[in-house]
Amino acid sequence: MEYRKLGKSGLVVSELCLGTMTFGREADKEESLKMVDSFLGQGGNFIDTADVYNRGVAEEIVGEAIQSRRSEVVLATKVRMKVGPHPNDVGYSRRRIMEGVEASLRRLKTDYIDLYQLHVWDHITPIEETLRTLDDLVSSGKVRYIGCSNFLAWQMMKALGISDFRNYVRFISIQPQYSLVNREMDREVIPLCLEEEVGILPWAPLGGGFLTGKYEPGDAPSFGRFSMGFTGEYDWENKALRKNFEILDKVKSIAAANQKTPAQVALNWLLEREGVTSPIFGASTMEQLEENMGSVGWRLSQEHWNELHETSKLPSEYPQRFLEKFRRQV
Ligand SMILES: NC(=O)c1ccc[n+]([C@@H]2O[C@H](COP(=O)([O-])OP(=O)(O)OC[C@H]3O[C@@H](n4cnc5c(N)ncnc54)[C@H](OP(=O)(O)O)[C@@H]3O)[C@@H](O)[C@H]2O)c1
Repeated sequence: MEYRKLGKSGLVVSELCLGTMTFGREADKEESLKMVDSFLGQGGNFIDTADVYNRGVAEEIVGEAIQSRRSEVVLATKVRMKVGPHPNDVGYSRRRIMEGVEASLRRLKTDYIDLYQLHVWDHITPIEETLRTLDDLVSSGKVRYIGCSNFLAWQMMKALGISDFRNYVRFISIQPQYSLVNREMDREVIPLCLEEEVGILPWAPLGGGFLTGKYEPGDAPSFGRFSMGFTGEYDWENKALRKNFEILDKVKSIAAANQKTPAQVALNWLLEREGVTSPIFGASTMEQLEENMGSVGWRLSQEHWNELHETSKLPSEYPQRFLEKFRRQV
């Protein structure tokens, strides 16, 4: 396992981050505790969770798993989603964040969170109020660093600009959906992160399991993530596109040539993608976790990496296409 600096900070994280959205759902407590043990035992130090994962159960399990070795772990969690029936139980008001951080600390059985992330933009709260609150949390020591997730490029840039202007702490990372079958971040977010030195922590690096190669074209499967009735990003209709199966074919052939599995190849491609710090992979079982941990300790050849990059890249679009013409003009 290798370690990388996260964004413009001195925080060092493992090149793989363990996602915990399955904890207390697909994986019961016992299986989840075993996964954390194995991940940390193999050199992983970075764990991502959220207050809403399985209504707080995922945070509780993570808290129990790391209680005896808190100092070894870089612990990331999130705030924003609705956690109760009242109008102030959602969003980024000062009140909600202050309550949210206390609730997460209680469930995580710790007195500090390494990386506190804004889960999705809040259209109600002025971003100044949110950033001031996060700055106070860092000053108090309850939070060490801050990040965002699922932000549009303009939202992140607006927040970074306000942090800098007001001398508040700024985001060191963003957590977007990003993988060989979801490269929308190539348009604006990745160039912005490179420019501003913000670390990228891709979620769904396996496309929610699509890139493991266990699905065939056709109707929605009767097993796995795409059978669980999720809408949006884990909707079969959105994933089972002809283009995505073409990408998967390329992943499978490169996996066979390297004596690796498709999941290992899909993760390995991300490890070398410019700007990416640590993909946040998920697992529903120990077997999946062990397979995914086999994505480190080796590297794809440049030729194979390029083939994957070319097969999965976005179509040429305006205004990027137009700007590209002027890149080298002096
Ligand atoms: N910020 C956000 O908005 C956001 C959103 C989503 C996730 N996340 C974070 O990102 C993490 C990862 O997201 P994700 O679960 O979508 O990531 P993923 O790694 O793309 O998908 C994980 C799922 O794929 C299947 N899978 C994984 N490895 C496999 C293997 N080797 N063989 C066969 N199937 C395998 C399993 O689902 P099945 O067994 O059910 O098929 C597993 O639960 C989450 O845990 C969470 O921490 C963040």
